[in-house]
Amino acid sequence: MSGTIDPHLFVIFGGTGNLARTKLLPALHELLYAQGLADRVVVLGVGIGARSDDQYRTMARDAVIAAGGDPKTAAEWCSERVHYRAVGDDPRLVELRRAIHEIEQAHGLVGNRIFYLALPPSAVASTVTAIGDNDLAAGPGWQRLVIEKPFGHDLATAVELNATVHRYFDESDVYRIDHYLGKETVRNLLVFRFANALFERTWNRDHIESVTITMAETEGVDDRARYYDESGAVRDMVQNHLAQVLALVAMEPPTGLGSEDIRNEKVKVLRAMPEVAPSEAVFGQYGPGTVDGETVAGYLDLPGVAEGSTTPTFVSLTARIDNWRWQGVPFTLTTGKRLPERRSRIEVRYRRPPVCLFHEDCPGHQNLLFVTLQPEEGFDLFFDVKRPGDAMELDRIPLSVRYAERFGELPDAYETLLRDVMEGDQSLFVRADEVEESWRVFAGVLDADVLVSYPAGSPGPVPC
Ligand code: BG6
Repeated sequence: MSGTIDPHLFVIFGGTGNLARTKLLPALHELLYAQGLADRVVVLGVGIGARSDDQYRTMARDAVIAAGGDPKTAAEWCSERVHYRAVGDDPRLVELRRAIHEIEQAHGLVGNRIFYLALPPSAVASTVTAIGDNDLAAGPGWQRLVIEKPFGHDLATAVELNATVHRYFDESDVYRIDHYLGKETVRNLLVFRFANALFERTWNRDHIESVTITMAETEGVDDRARYYDESGAVRDMVQNHLAQVLALVAMEPPTGLGSEDIRNEKVKVLRAMPEVAPSEAVFGQYGPGTVDGETVAGYLDLPGVAEGSTTPTFVSLTARIDNWRWQGVPFTLTTGKRLPERRSRIEVRYRRPPVCLFHEDCPGHQNLLFVTLQPEEGFDLFFDVKRPGDAMELDRIPLSVRYAERFGELPDAYETLLRDVMEGDQSLFVRADEVEESWRVFAGVLDADVLVSYPAGSPGPVPC
């Protein structure tokens, strides 16, 4: 969708952190310059440490350039439209309030504000409260709140956080971000399913035997250990990214394309899911090993990881959806760090033909659909053909489409999502009830009961 973007102040709490440097500042720069909107948005980075505007501008410019941004526009943007303020331990945010008013006045802004919380989960509630109690979320213009995942630490804290957020913000102004929803390949799932009658007719328990969703990474936890050690694979990936992709794969056709139409259908899927039992999950944690020819440290050796930590870096679990469409079809969700290859893929395995005419080994001859989310984004539909010759020999071949060949480079997910926040479009964001439902579904498997150690660079405790 392409709506209008009102001039506004974009406040990044956690403005000097990893997410701001590697994703938000580069995406903002790209989005604003590509769309000729640079004069509509003023950025205010907020952090704990003291820095001058100039120091922050240098950091922001370098971050944009490091991500491939144009050095000339990066320098221009940062010097004219990027500011920084430190928040000390003043709960009344006196200095920040003053800075916001001054910056808005200097740039002729009327009070439209986006508050982006790029913060560790433990700092979110107190920051929302500080914003709300100090009247930054009120006044002329609109104010929107963006919160990164994971939203809370479990169901109880998510419910509490939703209540805190709703004390100051209407749900229509809250954007719970899950960057997977901004990926083109994930956005395309709706089109793939509901624009092509061919698939929708067979998209159910009568024709599909199982669905597997895998998000495998070669990266480790590295400098995010402090955050990760409190989260682990389920909180970091499954409760949000994998659950959202599952909901899009499994949902019923929406009645329209409005954000509520889509979110209503996604939450129905989550509501139909029973809690995943611990016996349905396998957990792992990587030890030292070799990835891409490089020797890497094990998880327990990283600075920031508690001694003897049992935080899982790998999980594979089976979820169920108790509804008419999916009853009895297992949805296997797998994710892990330090695996041999990076791959995010949905695999749909169709039921075998009712009668095996051509071979004794029917199970190996089922139609398969791969939707590859990254890398090499695209689709592959595997089916059997007769190999030319007298013998009735079958060959398994794919019909394949690769996005890059057809469309070239894909936009970055953060650019898409930031534009939607600016336009006030919530379709690609997670609603309060969705986030609570997905915490409920995975409540029993948030932490590992039995943990298997796997060498970095190996396929993990169960191959994916
Ligand atoms: C983030 C997780 O949300 O997603 C990271 O916190 C993970 O641990 C990342 O590496 C994966 O995203 P992508 O887009 O690289 O697949």
